[in-house]
Amino acid sequence: MAALTTARILVASNRGPVSFSSAPDGTLTLRRGGGGLVSGLSAIDDPNAVWVCAALGEADRAAAGRSPHGRLDRGGFDVGGQAVRMLDIDPEVFDQAYNGVANSTLWFLHHMLYNTPAAPAFDAEAAEQWRAFEAYNTAFAEALAAEAAEGAAVLVQDYHLTLVPALLRELRPDLRIGYFLHTPWAPADYFRLLPDPLATAVLTGVLGADRAGFHTRRWALAFADCCEAVLGAAVDRADLSVSYRGRTTRLGVHGLGADGEFLRERAHRADVDQRLAALRETVGDRRTIVRVDRTELSKNIVRGLLAYRHLLRSRPEWRERVVHIAFAYPSRQDLAEYRDYTAAVRRISEEIDAEFATDSWQPLILQVEDDFARSLAAYRLADVALVNPIRDGMNLVAKEIPVVSEAGCALVLSREAGAWAELAEDAIGINPYDVVGTADALHRALSLPAAERTERTKRLAAAATALSPQQWFLDQLAALNP
Ligand code: G6P
Repeated sequence: MAALTTARILVASNRGPVSFSSAPDGTLTLRRGGGGLVSGLSAIDDPNAVWVCAALGEADRAAAGRSPHGRLDRGGFDVGGQAVRMLDIDPEVFDQAYNGVANSTLWFLHHMLYNTPAAPAFDAEAAEQWRAFEAYNTAFAEALAAEAAEGAAVLVQDYHLTLVPALLRELRPDLRIGYFLHTPWAPADYFRLLPDPLATAVLTGVLGADRAGFHTRRWALAFADCCEAVLGAAVDRADLSVSYRGRTTRLGVHGLGADGEFLRERAHRADVDQRLAALRETVGDRRTIVRVDRTELSKNIVRGLLAYRHLLRSRPEWRERVVHIAFAYPSRQDLAEYRDYTAAVRRISEEIDAEFATDSWQPLILQVEDDFARSLAAYRLADVALVNPIRDGMNLVAKEIPVVSEAGCALVLSREAGAWAELAEDAIGINPYDVVGTADALHRALSLPAAERTERTKRLAAAATALSPQQWFLDQLAALNP
């Protein structure tokens, strides 16, 4: 592999800023994605920045294959921001690393999703998946090492790339390496479900970074606890740092905020207006409870629906007067647990409809096709926002709805979401496992006096936009300066 070694700032993540689809005649169409990282990176205008990501499907692979060193810009694609290097990793290796380890092991661990009498079971198949995960992380480390200029800053993102910081340091000790985890970190007792060699590899992988960032202090401290319990590392909780084998990794807290400016503008374009009109037609002058999520186990959609059902059963005064708008977009459908969960969401929705719908009232609008403009329309219409994850690194929906809602919304928020650290004061908190408690919180939220709701929403929106994605990114970069 020829060394390019010109990039001064590098970002690495499994899912990149662009993806491709292909037409039957082989024509490739590029789509630019959204999200905090994409907005964050727009803050830097450096022609020598490179974003390294994985090819996620066949069309991505075809695009990467056409581009020298996987550099899409050199393959003639207009990626619309920084240069993108897309790694064409062997499909089987990628599947084992992404589905087997990242999404079925590390995601489950950090979100505490295991049904422990049955899983996890670290057998021979799991060992093979782990080897694939090492190969996939090595491919990232090698690509970063090949692209980075002397002393460059590299910002490695998320649990998929947990081994990269240490692997990269080995290859290029001159680099300044930052790591950021977008998920929670598991408590030490739960983390130790991992076999010792894997637990050690995950922790020492992250400790290869000069600085490891988290959305909240709670997740940073959980990481430090694991380093202490598993590695015997020295932890300074006041200073937030971990020292192990002669090196110190600083920990940082950067609570990613919503992109207020972008949201306010985007939410008032014609496509959103159109969808808002359609929703209004169905809802009429009723109150709305809005949720928007990937159909993700950790988002706790099923208990959210059970809570809505309990509300309608226990407080019949809300019947005919409220509509629950639940958008649950497909996610990780290669995993059986996710397919089953999606089916459960549909089943309970049908049950609610069968129990309560009348000729003049549809109690629940469930949509399972991803449509960003329609999500924004629902945000505008929200009287109550329901965000009840079992555990969540941050949860940007909790931050976005108060910014966009027109009449001001009451936020029902899980105490286990990272966003709770910043929004607790003006949200209505819930234990995400407590269905009756969540129903009570929905009732409280629906009953909040208008003036109080407006005041709370103002403060929520201010807290939610306190750290723009651009500043979030720049802060991490600045913190890596020698
Ligand atoms: C979470 C993770 C991201 C991931 C996203 C979507 O937010 O922190 O890294 O990209 O989920 O999941 P997917 O598996 O579709 O990339």
